Amino acid sequence: MNFRKTILITGGAGFIGSHVVRRFVNNYPDYRIVNADKLTYAGNLENLTDIEKKGNYFFEKTDIVDKQAVVKLFGKFNFDGIIHLAAESHVDRSITGPDEFVFTNIIGTVNLMNAALNSWQKVFVGKLFYHISTDEVYGSLGSEGMFTEKSAYDPKSPYSASKASSDHMVRAYNHTFGLPAVISNCSNNYGPNQFPEKLIPLAINNIKNNKPVPVYGKGENIRDWLYVEDHAAAIDLIFQNGKAGETYNIGGNNEWKNIDLIRLLCKIMDKRLNRSIGTSEKLITFVKDRPGHDLRYAIDSSKLQKEMGWSPIPSFEAGLEKTVDWYLSNSGWLENIISGDYGKYYESMYSGR
Ligand code: NAD
Ligand code: TYD
Repeated sequence: MNFRKTILITGGAGFIGSHVVRRFVNNYPDYRIVNADKLTYAGNLENLTDIEKKGNYFFEKTDIVDKQAVVKLFGKFNFDGIIHLAAESHVDRSITGPDEFVFTNIIGTVNLMNAALNSWQKVFVGKLFYHISTDEVYGSLGSEGMFTEKSAYDPKSPYSASKASSDHMVRAYNHTFGLPAVISNCSNNYGPNQFPEKLIPLAINNIKNNKPVPVYGKGENIRDWLYVEDHAAAIDLIFQNGKAGETYNIGGNNEWKNIDLIRLLCKIMDKRLNRSIGTSEKLITFVKDRPGHDLRYAIDSSKLQKEMGWSPIPSFEAGLEKTVDWYLSNSGWLENIISGDYGKYYESMYSGR
């Protein structure tokens, strides 16, 4: 079959990447979608079993830090667009081991941009390098205000510093070499297929198994939560309509204190597991805080809403219920992860807290 476009999606076996791959494979049968992923602990091809046999889907096991492997990948396919999600993504891991974050998030991004420039040879019509980033590059807010596209960068964790560095490199390549590049910075995602090291799936799994639910510090930190399919829809819109050189903020307009969010989750879990209301809340355990823990993130996504008509789903509770239902009816997915190396990580991370 002749495909109209060939799109590279990096990190497509991960949480957000798998939702983006599914959306593009299903919505654009005339696009060839190439998912390139190293399959680290966070990459899981089980996330994509429903679309893996489609004729427009291709998987390439590739480490983006390996320059030769990236050059080979770009030699095999003639990419029209790149949606770059591959990254080390967990703040706690960036504190215990920052090196991988520098390699994958910074060097990996530069390897991809070099390969794109080499492949496109200054003929940029119809080409786009789309870099997926985070609101954490802007640092931490006090009780007032929101991050806009004009907020100054002030990253505080090795994770956010590595993402900020990659954003700077993308802007530098756009400015210096003319690479047609866009960036989006998104708030915390939740939904099906999220690796259970992150707050919401970790809490669902622990509540289900009657294990303590670790809340860092006093649980006062605030995050702006967005349903993952809303992020995938925003990525689709930005990929199709975004202007090279521009940045778009994506957020749920949905701020929650961690402790309030966990209490709501406990209530939903009590209902789903037929436990009397209040049972799961007893599992909440306040543990030692994360070093340098950012207090609050909040995103102003009005630019995206105005320019492209995007908006997030209105009900957080409905999104959480959908997420809980997915985890409860996909216990095999979770068990496969817990029985692997993740079990050891969990022990080392939480036993001393
Ligand atoms: P994830 O950890 O679930 O998935 C990351 C994927 O990248 C995995 O499939 C992994 O195998 C792959 N990967 C890691 N290192 C690689 C390498 N060297 N070469 C090739 N592939 C590699 O992450 P996620 O939560 O889906 O996040 C995806 C992107 O979105 C990241 O760039 C992250 O910074 C950004 N983001 C995430 C959130 C969030 O709340 N999760 C919010 C905003 C932005
Ligand atoms: P996380 O899901 O790791 O995302 P991020 O650090 O990128 O925002 O954490 C979300 C919030 O929940 C953050 O404030 C840290 C907190 N947290 C806990 O209280 N307990 C936990 O076990 C985890 C993983 C996170």
